[in-house]
Amino acid sequence: MNLFRRKSVTELQNEAATDHSLKRALGALNLTMLGIGAIIGTGIFVLTGTVAALNAGPAVVLSFVLAGVASIFAALCYSEFASLVPMAGSAYTYGYATLGELIAWIIGWDLILEYALGAVTVAIGWSGYVVSFLKDIGITMPCSLAAAHGVVATGCTEPATLNLPAVIIIAIVTTLLVIGIKESANVNNVIVFVKVAVVLLFIVAAAHAINPANWHPFMPPNTGHRGEFGWTGVMTGAGVVFFAYIGFDAVSTAAQEAKNPQKDMPVGIIGSLLVCTVLYILVAGIATGVMSYKDLNVPDPIAVAADHAGLGWMSSLIKLGAIAGLSSVILVMLLGQSRVFYSMARDGLLPSFVNRVHPRFQTPYITSIVTGIGVAIVSALLTVREAGSLVSIGTLLAFVIVSIGIMALRVREPNLPRAFKTPAVFVVAPLGAISALYLMISLPWTTWRRLIIWFVIGMILYFAYGVRHSRLAARDGKTTVPPR
Ligand code: ALA
Repeated sequence: MNLFRRKSVTELQNEAATDHSLKRALGALNLTMLGIGAIIGTGIFVLTGTVAALNAGPAVVLSFVLAGVASIFAALCYSEFASLVPMAGSAYTYGYATLGELIAWIIGWDLILEYALGAVTVAIGWSGYVVSFLKDIGITMPCSLAAAHGVVATGCTEPATLNLPAVIIIAIVTTLLVIGIKESANVNNVIVFVKVAVVLLFIVAAAHAINPANWHPFMPPNTGHRGEFGWTGVMTGAGVVFFAYIGFDAVSTAAQEAKNPQKDMPVGIIGSLLVCTVLYILVAGIATGVMSYKDLNVPDPIAVAADHAGLGWMSSLIKLGAIAGLSSVILVMLLGQSRVFYSMARDGLLPSFVNRVHPRFQTPYITSIVTGIGVAIVSALLTVREAGSLVSIGTLLAFVIVSIGIMALRVREPNLPRAFKTPAVFVVAPLGAISALYLMISLPWTTWRRLIIWFVIGMILYFAYGVRHSRLAARDGKTTVPPR
């Protein structure tokens, strides 16, 4: 049994050229918007405040710079892969082409943590904002339906049974994804426009209220505990705000729906990441400039900072921007997850009914619906804290593997025509892997334990199903499954 059997890049390129089941409808602008759609969300609207107040003070700006740099290394590696292998499935597909089937399965299984659990995390955050916004306009959500199972929602005394708003947003987004990629991209574009407008408005309107005294000390001294201010605080903060950057790689899951993937994938991935990095640094700098970082540990720090800047009228607008913003993160995460499942089923590692494409909408509707139902159930029950750190560790692991994979492919197939080449690859890729590993190490042991349990389950499934149904194995005549 060869667990490291792999597809060649040329083979994948041929598959991409002949597989017309998904619709190639997205251009460079749509792809960049897709990236921004997935990136700007809970991270900037919520975590900026928590990290400033508890870990880094105004130096949260540096945490954003560090996490942004780690992401840019990875983005350069993703871009080379995405332009080389224009197939759905992102890191999973790249893993298949470089490191073999077992590692590909491990990445695919890992990406569930990033995309499905990412959608869960953001849906729970979305629910919190919606419940608070509805309250502002005089509508009270019943306490039993306003938060995760067993959690007492803000303003309630009884623990909730079920997080209904989270289930509703997942149902809406899933329906949209089944209807069509173009329709989904159009809705995403509108949402991205709204959320970027809200972020820009905050930057422009609040900048005048900066009091430089709030930036002193810029990096408050360490309290004696690792991670509480000082350099270790900035580093821990980088591990936490890394969540804010997750999503640029989701662009690569849509490679099979891009009109001109060779050229447009790198633009979408790197472009969306750069835009968001600049916005994040400005927002973090302004939020800590208009008020003391000590007061930013609130669920809606950007709205509170706007209030401090004398922009009370902006508070509801920011909440609306956050609600819209989080919706598009959920949209792109669910899109990414269904495309990864689609690719895994195409390769026989998951049952083939999963990759059935809708005859009219040309979308992988079964996988979208199954993903939607799974995500809705989990998001009705879990808390943000439980889900969030696992999302970060899962994503970082994918970054490590992609950074290693891109070097492996340069060594193994140096002469492939590459539309986009990672610059200084033997510097950038190791730095990408090391910085992602470093951020992984800064996460708590409980998160690592959950990651290990998740992989044990994944290995059991692979050896119980995938290894015997792999199409590549069938093609190589190693099993009895007939090739397609
Ligand atoms: N980057 C996304 C967010 O911050 C996941 O919500």
